[in-house]
Amino acid sequence: MNISVVGSGYVGLITAAGFAEKGHNVVCVDVVSSKVDSINRGKPLIYEEGLDEILRAVVGRNLSASMDLHAAVLASDITFICVGTPSRPNGSIELKYIKESARQVGLALGEKKGFHIVVVKSTVIPGTTDNVIKPILEKASGRKAGVGFGLAMNPEFLREGFAVEDFRKPDRIIVGASDSKSMGVLERLYAGFPTGLLATDLKTAEMIKYASNAFLATKISFINEVGNVCKSIGVDTYKVAEGMGLDKRITPHFLRAGIGFGGSCFPKDVKSLVYRAKELGIKPRILKAVLDVNHTQPRRFIELARKKAGSLKGRRVAVLGLAFKGGTDDIRESPAVAIVHELLKEKANVVAYDPKAAGNARDVFGDRIVYAASSADCLRGADIALIVTEWEEFRKLDFSGMKRRIVVDGKRMLDIANLAKDVDYEGICW
Ligand code: UGA
Repeated sequence: MNISVVGSGYVGLITAAGFAEKGHNVVCVDVVSSKVDSINRGKPLIYEEGLDEILRAVVGRNLSASMDLHAAVLASDITFICVGTPSRPNGSIELKYIKESARQVGLALGEKKGFHIVVVKSTVIPGTTDNVIKPILEKASGRKAGVGFGLAMNPEFLREGFAVEDFRKPDRIIVGASDSKSMGVLERLYAGFPTGLLATDLKTAEMIKYASNAFLATKISFINEVGNVCKSIGVDTYKVAEGMGLDKRITPHFLRAGIGFGGSCFPKDVKSLVYRAKELGIKPRILKAVLDVNHTQPRRFIELARKKAGSLKGRRVAVLGLAFKGGTDDIRESPAVAIVHELLKEKANVVAYDPKAAGNARDVFGDRIVYAASSADCLRGADIALIVTEWEEFRKLDFSGMKRRIVVDGKRMLDIANLAKDVDYEGICW
């Protein structure tokens, strides 16, 4: 099929690359010329395991990038809209990018002959595709949804760091469509995937995305709260989680206690659901508690570090990790960033190391912190080490170069039983 993908950020680019790998002809569209150029050179601006290899194979063959949305829509049968829907300060989602994309897609549709399907992949609050996107498309194109063009909602469930794998082998494919013709085309598009497709209406598909992210975030805040209790009574939270996870109804996933969740999805999606619930007159008590626990966890971590080190003022603090999780260079809503801000407030001398995210952190912290080239450099001469991102390499840290061997772990990266005797180790909630 001929596919255009509007928005070449993380979701758009993985979607485009994934469909191109399946043999479809794909055009990525973006308003940022550096993104377009980088894709056409086969060198993505984001780091994602396996993405470079796919781009090397498909760029110049059946995938290209362009700034010309109009031409891309005219040359394709399906357009995926994958632009960002960030949080506003009050927690609601910002729809201006998706509205503008829909308007432009609509204008192109107005000039197009034949049936074209528009698929919303951006995460949007239930009702948005039908109540906001559809009228924009109809007005700009002068055509009627379901007749002149098809409309569908196909949420993404890609984890950063595993996005290529998740695209190839998804746990589920959810498609909400306003008409059976669009559903039929999307069923054919996804027929080559090893997973069944769940057909829904538009707003159910939108809600499945929010409910899934909110539930996973709830699991994390739940285990963090349980962990805080476990720690204060001397129980190992990770053993508790292991025991809980043996129950098929609970599963062992997303029960890793620590400094809390970050990233561009969980914090934003839970906040928007809270906002929407309130608009509807519903008190979102559980979701608010999820955010509350998550906000507090990095502060508990700093408190613990302060207690261990005496004071943090003037101390050399080695921060291991900056990304919101391992396997990515993304620092959006990273608990590590909140922790570094707190450390700077405490007037600590921060030396940070992250195998991928230092460049992005430099945009936030500039020269206010030192960026070490390796974990050994980061730890050398440090008064205290804080582990804040789950990078696999942090499982084998050598603390011998530290001035004082105090280690506070926010991600349970170390095997307590195998630590050298002179390491003063403490986990945040175990
Ligand atoms: C998440 C979802 O897992 C994806 O299914 C979804 O598609 C995506 O959001 C999205 O909406 O786009 P992602 O943000 O990449 O994916 O990251 P996760 O692997 O889910 O981790 C999120 C955060 O939770 C990280 O900060 C991670 O360190 C933390 N986490 C995760 C825990 O603290 N404990 C856990 O047990 C699991």
